[in-house]
Amino acid sequence: KKRVVSGVQPTGSIHLGNYFGAIKNWVALQNVYETLFFIVDLHAITLPYDTQQLSKATRSTAAIYLACGVDPSKASVFVQSHVRAHVELMWLLSSTTPIGWLNKMIQFKEKSRKAGDEEVGVALLTYPVLMASDILLYQSDLVPVGEDQKQHLELTPEAVPEPLIPPAGARIMSLTDGLSKMSKSAPSDQSRINILDPKDLIANKIKRCKTDSFPSLEFDNSERPECNNLLSIYQLVSGKTKEEVVQECQNMNWGIFKTLLTDALIDHLHPIQVHYEEIMSDSGYLDEVLAQGARNAAEIADTTLHNVYQAMGFLKRL
Ligand code: TYM
Repeated sequence: KKRVVSGVQPTGSIHLGNYFGAIKNWVALQNVYETLFFIVDLHAITLPYDTQQLSKATRSTAAIYLACGVDPSKASVFVQSHVRAHVELMWLLSSTTPIGWLNKMIQFKEKSRKAGDEEVGVALLTYPVLMASDILLYQSDLVPVGEDQKQHLELTPEAVPEPLIPPAGARIMSLTDGLSKMSKSAPSDQSRINILDPKDLIANKIKRCKTDSFPSLEFDNSERPECNNLLSIYQLVSGKTKEEVVQECQNMNWGIFKTLLTDALIDHLHPIQVHYEEIMSDSGYLDEVLAQGARNAAEIADTTLHNVYQAMGFLKRL
C-alpha cells in the first residue's frame, strides 16, 4: 500500500485554506492508502509563540482533523513531537543539506525580512529540513498539501515525493485582499474564515469582505481576484461544479451572492463544529487516539532512523 503523510501547524485557528488545501483531501485518501496525519507542533515554534497556548492549540487541531472526517481507525493521527525520530532525523539530514538550498526558500526570506535577523531563530531556516524528515521517516509516496508548500517539498527533489495538490482549493485567498493567500498569521481575523467561527462571525466576515464594482460575477478574470476567490469558495462549500456555479451566480449582485455564500458556509461548517465539540468533550478519547497514532508512527519511524544511522556509518549501540 502506498503511504501518505501530511500535517498542519497548531498555530492560531485552522481556516478554510487549511481545510480545502489539505485536511479535506486527506479524508478521501485514508480509504485508499496507508495514511499518517500529524500536528506539526515542532514547526510551530519557529516564530515567537505563546507557551501557554501550544498544547491547547495542538489538541484543538487534532480534534479538528477528526471533526473534518479523519478517521483514526484508518489513519494514524499523532503529534509530531511525540515521535522523537522527527527531530533526530532532522539533525542527520541537516548535515547533508547545503545551506544554499535553504537560503532560497521564499517563506524564510519573507518571514525573516519582516522580523529581522536578531529576531529570527535558526530553526526558521532549517524548517524545510524538518519537513523533509517528516516525510522521509515514513518513506511517503504522496504528500497532500496546498500550493504554498510546494517549494518546501522541492528541497530534496530526488528523495521527497511529489506533492499532491488539489485541482480546486489549493490556494484560498484572503477575504480582504484577493492577491494574498488566506493565512493563519495574517494580523486581521477578518481576512479568513476559521473552521470554528460561529455563524454570526461568518456572516459578518462575508458581509465586510472585499468585492469589486464590476457588473455580474465571473471566475478567472485576473482583474477580479476577490470575485474568483469568493466564487471558488462557494463552489467548494456547496459541492457544485464550476459550470453550475457560473449558471447559478453569474447574474447575481454582490448582496444576493453574499447571502448565498454565507448560508452555504454555515451549512458546510456546522456539522464539523458539532462534531468538534463532541470530540473535545471526551478528552480520554482524543488522548487515546493520539497515543495510538504515536505508537504506530514510531514503529515505522524508528526503523527508518535505525537504517539511516547504519547507512551513515555510526557505531551500532548494543
Ligand atoms: P501550514 O500549517 O501552514 O498549512 C497546513 C496546510 O494548509 C495548506 N494551506 C492552504 N491551502 C490552500 N489555501 C491556503 N490559503 C492555504 N494556507 C495553508 C498548506 O499548503 C498545508 O498543506 N510546513 C507545513 C506543515 C508540514 C507538513 C509536513 C506538511 C510540516 N511537515 C510534512 C506536509 C508534510 C505548514 O506549515 O503548513
